[in-house]
Amino acid sequence: MPSCHSTNDIALQILKKPDTREGVVIITDDQTAGRGQRGNGWVSAPQSNLTLSVVLKPTFLQAADQFFLNIIVSLAVRKMISAYTEESDVKVKWPNDVLLNQKKVAGILIENTLQRSSIQWSVIGMGVNINQQNLDLSKATSLFKETRDTHELPILFEQLIVFLENYYLKLKSGKKEELKSEYLQHLFGFQQFRKYRTEYLFDGKIIDVDHTGRLILETVKGEISFDFKEIEFIY
Ligand code: BTN
Repeated sequence: MPSCHSTNDIALQILKKPDTREGVVIITDDQTAGRGQRGNGWVSAPQSNLTLSVVLKPTFLQAADQFFLNIIVSLAVRKMISAYTEESDVKVKWPNDVLLNQKKVAGILIENTLQRSSIQWSVIGMGVNINQQNLDLSKATSLFKETRDTHELPILFEQLIVFLENYYLKLKSGKKEELKSEYLQHLFGFQQFRKYRTEYLFDGKIIDVDHTGRLILETVKGEISFDFKEIEFIY
């Protein structure tokens, strides 16, 4: 689509049609009212970046295991970015931001609909900063800003979809432990002492993510687990 308000909103509309099948992709060159996590917006310069949503139907996944969708999507985006950079510079910041040289290069917004204890539909929204030259936020970056190379968006789009499909099929075939260990391997701060903020500042080391997606840190007070919104990273 040349322009649209939010690809996630369009995908959520499409789900209401009875003949919708999984695999539908909504992609736009100019997203005018992108939505982010925590009720934030997602701003993306026109014709510069990837802004898309993929519709999946992971009915094989229990609602309690929905964090595995965050795992596969962040791994797919990370893999696509790392094909154009030094592999070690690309990290996943829990729960599902992708960092390039410690700055956010991609954001992911997953919106699931549930049917009893299973997931019915999942809208996977991805915003990846590719050719944008100037970004308003100091903690944000683009592939161009870090490498000074511009890229053909359709090629990157295709690679991203292939990686996402591969990870999705891996999840569908039950390889959860393998996926989780790959996620931990690329997780920013994993097994490193860093500063974090909850109601107070503390030093902690990420040692795991539980199956519901809670982040587990080792601290002087012992192991503490956090939900999204309960903890902030201090770089
Ligand atoms: C975040 O806050 O980090 C998540 C940002 C997600 C942005 C993407 S862009 C494509 C899709 N459509 C939206 O409205 N949001 C997501």
